[in-house]
Amino acid sequence: MLVEKNVPLQPYNSFHIVAKAQTLVRIASEQDLLCVLADPELAALPKFVLGGGSNIVLTGDVKPLVLKVEIPGKRLLQETERHFILEAGAGENWHEFVAWTLEQGYPGLENMALIPGTVGASPVQNVGAYGVELQDRFDSLDAMDLETGVIFTLNAAQCAFGYRDSVFKHASNGGSPAHQALGLKDRALILRVRFALPKVWKPVLGYADIEKKMVADGVSKPDARQIFDWICAIRRAKLPDPAVIGNAGSFFKNPTVSREQCADIIARDPKVVHYLLADGSVKLAAGWLIDSCGWRGKSVGQAGVYEKQALVLVNRGKGSNGLGATGGEVMTLAKAIQTSVYERFGLMLEPEPVTI
Ligand code: EPU
Repeated sequence: MLVEKNVPLQPYNSFHIVAKAQTLVRIASEQDLLCVLADPELAALPKFVLGGGSNIVLTGDVKPLVLKVEIPGKRLLQETERHFILEAGAGENWHEFVAWTLEQGYPGLENMALIPGTVGASPVQNVGAYGVELQDRFDSLDAMDLETGVIFTLNAAQCAFGYRDSVFKHASNGGSPAHQALGLKDRALILRVRFALPKVWKPVLGYADIEKKMVADGVSKPDARQIFDWICAIRRAKLPDPAVIGNAGSFFKNPTVSREQCADIIARDPKVVHYLLADGSVKLAAGWLIDSCGWRGKSVGQAGVYEKQALVLVNRGKGSNGLGATGGEVMTLAKAIQTSVYERFGLMLEPEPVTI
């Protein structure tokens, strides 16, 4: 086991924020993690699990022991009557895994193409895009308890998936009451994730962006590969590539409000983009709310609001020479956005990334 000290984290977070890990260990197998837990000094340290670093804001050097998950592997595990069960190591890159499933002839993840990050991070925030969420294709996962070294398996119900939410985002003695007893934040490391992809594949097409592509390309019955290509094109057109412009995807969640609250917001601005949900509540487009407060293209220091999608905060600095945005600048910008949306619409936006 190699214990690395003062490791630059800039290459390992998609915002390209300059910060260091005081201590970092790479976890390429269960055995690596058991070695960490068997070492009295390392075992005693608080721990931070780092996946693809695509959903974090680093506000300084990281003092907890950083466990950088690099567990490889992807395979067809089994076939049931109705599903292909695929398994991937937590360290696999999400998009490469999605592309691989399609190449192997197992469609079902195509709407989630190009989401940055790793397979192991995908259940933590129940990633989703264009009408499909991870929980729709999830079978189960294996994780290791960071206190005891015991490996356990969770099914979807036990993961308590919600919109960009799961049991892994909640502390055991905090968070919402529903998750209190179950909270696994900082208590477990996801080792492997299994996906159940239906043998009878049906396209998920409902989104306006996809429908525009269908019309433009004159395709009414797309296959999964075609949808994958459209999603990649749609995302590339409006979301910044983290390899070029540092960012953490959508910075805020789309808020859900009651019909009464929505009526109040419509009274403030009738153009507000909103979608009625099956349970009678209403989802608002946070990007639109931020945009209508005039934030698109604005900056605080080197942290900015992306010109083509106001829900995405970006690092305008040249990360590689160390002159990028600080985590403090990103958070100052985020707070200023929250305040102005609150003043105008009476709604407090909730950040999506984890602040460290
Ligand atoms: N809009 C504006 N101005 C903006 C941005 C958006 O008016 O600056 C409007 C758009 O015109 C549209 C609406 O807001 O009418 C929604 O925008 P968009 O379709 O881009 O989707 P979103 O709600 O902003 C969500 C997810 C994305 C996901 C897309 C597609 C969240 C927080 N974000 O974005 O996920 O790719 O839908 O499904 O739910 C992510 O989580 O990191 C992410 C990129």
